[in-house]
Amino acid sequence: MASFIVFEGGDGSGKSTQARNLMQRLRRRGSGAVLTHEPGGTPLGEALRRVLKSGPAMSPLSELFLFEAARAQLVDTLIRPALAEGRTVIADRYVASTVAYQAYGRELDRNLVDRLNREATGGLMPDLTVLLDLSVDTSLSRIQGASNDNFDQAPREFHRRVREGYMAQAEANPDKWLVLDGTRAKRDLGRQIWEKVQPLLQQRG
Ligand code: TYD
Repeated sequence: MASFIVFEGGDGSGKSTQARNLMQRLRRRGSGAVLTHEPGGTPLGEALRRVLKSGPAMSPLSELFLFEAARAQLVDTLIRPALAEGRTVIADRYVASTVAYQAYGRELDRNLVDRLNREATGGLMPDLTVLLDLSVDTSLSRIQGASNDNFDQAPREFHRRVREGYMAQAEANPDKWLVLDGTRAKRDLGRQIWEKVQPLLQQRG
């Protein structure tokens, strides 16, 4: 079974850049790794992404179900088949986003979020989750003016809770999480991520 590596972080954390960077490193080494993102990554997921990001206002529970619907489709049609073929999968966001944003950020019941995460993924968990951590101030200043979607307009307190949600997950499972300071230079971050990922690839092919 190949490795499954997830990038997480608040808005503006630079996680997508690092996910692409890792993908390029793997490709240069001849790996058939796959890069995907949430919400999205499948035709259904991309349609749900448009609704989530710029559709009509929705209740937190509706939002949770749409994220999980997109995830169920992604795991079933892309992530599991790729891992079964021995390909490393890199995902820009996964279940930890829903714990951080919907359980902590939107204050939905954590047990419900955990349950739906398990159902949507069939229990498939990453080998490593890389968190690019940023203070709320830095995060807000980075996204200011960059975009205007439903999430980027959330109040400061929401972003503070999201960060807390990420930290709680990383602390509960330190062997499977790598927490990095998102203000560090991109090259340093890339190097640290590569150091952590390389042994996983050797172990698991
Ligand atoms: P996106 O444009 O992909 O942002 P980013 O580049 O920060 O990943 O928008 C995804 C938004 O959806 C982002 O604000 C986080 C949010 N989100 C959730 O609230 N719950 C989830 O389960 C996922 C996957 C994303």
